[in-house]
Amino acid sequence: MVKVAPSILSADFAKLGAEVEEIRLGGADYVHFDVMDGRFVPNISIGIPVLKSLRRATDLFIDAHLMILEPLRYAEAFCRAGADLVNFHVEADSEENILAAIDVTHSLGRKAGVTVKPATDADAVLPFLEKVDLVLVMTVEPGFGGQSFMYDMLPKIAAIRGFIDRMNPSCELEVDGGIDTVTASLVKEAGANVLVAGSSVFKAPDRAAAIRNLRNA
Ligand code: DX5
Ligand code: ZN
Repeated sequence: MVKVAPSILSADFAKLGAEVEEIRLGGADYVHFDVMDGRFVPNISIGIPVLKSLRRATDLFIDAHLMILEPLRYAEAFCRAGADLVNFHVEADSEENILAAIDVTHSLGRKAGVTVKPATDADAVLPFLEKVDLVLVMTVEPGFGGQSFMYDMLPKIAAIRGFIDRMNPSCELEVDGGIDTVTASLVKEAGANVLVAGSSVFKAPDRAAAIRNLRNA
């Protein structure tokens, strides 16, 4: 059964606690928390103080997606602020520093993931694959919600599913960007098991139905 991780980037931040409670009651498995620094991506979103507040407001599993340069500098802070899983972009620092960020995260009892941008090859996850709990494949250029799914990412999802099955079968495979009921069925077919969805959940009139429809797509 696939998991659904609504991205709060498309939520109303003025009532974030209520928004997250609604998706929790609606059957969300994770809440996806997008962090942007205006450097690694051309947008700025939310960070540590918001994560601390959200942690106090919900017991839902928080999946933090760090779209920031040199994320090792902040790995400990995001763990201590309450992330259950921290995702690090492989493009954001050296291999050595990304491995160190994964180690810091695990040493604090949290899960760690690596993320690849659309232009990054599937092979880029290999140095990390045996150490991570999740791989996140971006299916849009990171930085903004509401973009169109990049269909040419489907072979990459399938390739990474093959690596996971061979090297670390309990690792999850998450996709992020342009996921709706049509693209959800394609990414599932390609091997994804965690679906991030921002606009298709938070902009839907019935969010519980949107979550259910993604899961059953
Ligand atoms: C984009 C973020 C996504 C975003 C997805 O950089 O990483 O998590 O919220 O939004 P949708 O589902 O609307 O494409
Ligand atoms: Zn994201």
